[in-house]
Amino acid sequence: MTTPFDLVLKGGVVVSHQGVGLQDIAMIGGRITEIGHLDAASAAEIVDCSGLHVLPGVIDSQVHFREPGLEHKEDLESGSLAAVMGGVTSVFEMPNTRPATTSAETLADKIGRATGRMHCDFAFWVGGTRENVSSISALERMPGAAGIKLFMGSSTGDLLVDDDESVLAILKQTRRRVAVHSEDEPRLQERLDLRRPGDPASHPDWRDEEAALRSTQRLVKLAREAGARIHVLHISTAEEIAFLQDHKDIATCEATPHHLTLCADDYDTLGNLAQMNPPIRAAQHRSGIWGGLQRSVIDVLGSDHAPHTRSEKEKPYPASPSGMTGVQTLVPIMLDHVNAGRLTLERFVDLTSHGPQRIFGLSRKGRIAAGYDADFTIVDMKRSHVITDDEQASRAGWTPYHGKKVTGWPIGTIVRGKIVMWEGALRQAASGQAIRLT
Ligand code: DOR
Repeated sequence: MTTPFDLVLKGGVVVSHQGVGLQDIAMIGGRITEIGHLDAASAAEIVDCSGLHVLPGVIDSQVHFREPGLEHKEDLESGSLAAVMGGVTSVFEMPNTRPATTSAETLADKIGRATGRMHCDFAFWVGGTRENVSSISALERMPGAAGIKLFMGSSTGDLLVDDDESVLAILKQTRRRVAVHSEDEPRLQERLDLRRPGDPASHPDWRDEEAALRSTQRLVKLAREAGARIHVLHISTAEEIAFLQDHKDIATCEATPHHLTLCADDYDTLGNLAQMNPPIRAAQHRSGIWGGLQRSVIDVLGSDHAPHTRSEKEKPYPASPSGMTGVQTLVPIMLDHVNAGRLTLERFVDLTSHGPQRIFGLSRKGRIAAGYDADFTIVDMKRSHVITDDEQASRAGWTPYHGKKVTGWPIGTIVRGKIVMWEGALRQAASGQAIRLT
């Protein structure tokens, strides 16, 4: 048999919904066409994947790429380069740019900027505000939209919706799952004095666990009243895990690599680089989030890649902005956790491809199946590597993991059948496209 495939991945250990085993995968025109033992296959290119694991392409459903308006921190090109260098094949990008993505025009502008200029595929979250309530149901269904994002607590940008009446009005307009930054703004305002000048370790004293829990409880109550489905971003407390466990019928949630890896002790060495909203907290919360991941309360991993320049981060706390890079380190940091026995590779795949597909309704991504987009993250589970600032493609140019040795490394990133990254080298001109949601 001599079907001329465009590309065949040969001899890798494929991790998919079918299990884990040696398989070859063939693709034509950017789609998967055959899965099995394809010894006689002829193809324009055959990639020897022996010794490597072939995973469905990793989807990072929370990144901030800062374009338009804040390109000194990042842009769609540099952010997506960081994504593919780290093995990420698709991203959902956040609306807190300048201008914010809150209208059909600003969404179309982002899609125009991204198409053919981003290195990975993409969708854009649209900010829900008091002003655009009446257009929410049209906006969330526009091509290229991931859905609606709500900021119930203030963070970078000015998309705050802090009162129940407005949150309810927005939720009532939605049919898609709404992604929420959940911290209780009234409580944050009351506690501003708890910030100690020059001491980022006071960040979790100010934005405490009660602020996160209270907001998440309000949100679930409002979502039930509205009949809406919600997605709680970057869970940071053990208490929210315990609470959300009883609300899985309407609520999904995300964990970030930094909340699973860092804890309050790291403010000593990282200082403002560890300053993030919601904050990095005491180790008991990190354990609680791991418990939630292991009991499958957590649905997806998102990096919350939120780059700021080094000089911005060097301002004395609390003038320093919150956020850290993460899209390029999501895969290696989490594979290191896999190697340490904290989750299985199958669960990693569930969190980074099957999970996003299930909860956001991706029509042709997130699964190794014939007819699906040929997106793959190819990893060497034995490769050890010391993460450094200078290999970060993000314009920010730093990572909180500088100097950390990890085992498990992304070797290749394949997007719609094209090898975009192999062994740290960019192999293709940018050709990112908007993701289709069902
Ligand atoms: O720390 C954060 N920074 N958390 C967010 O949710 C937003 C982000 C940013 O955009 O800088």
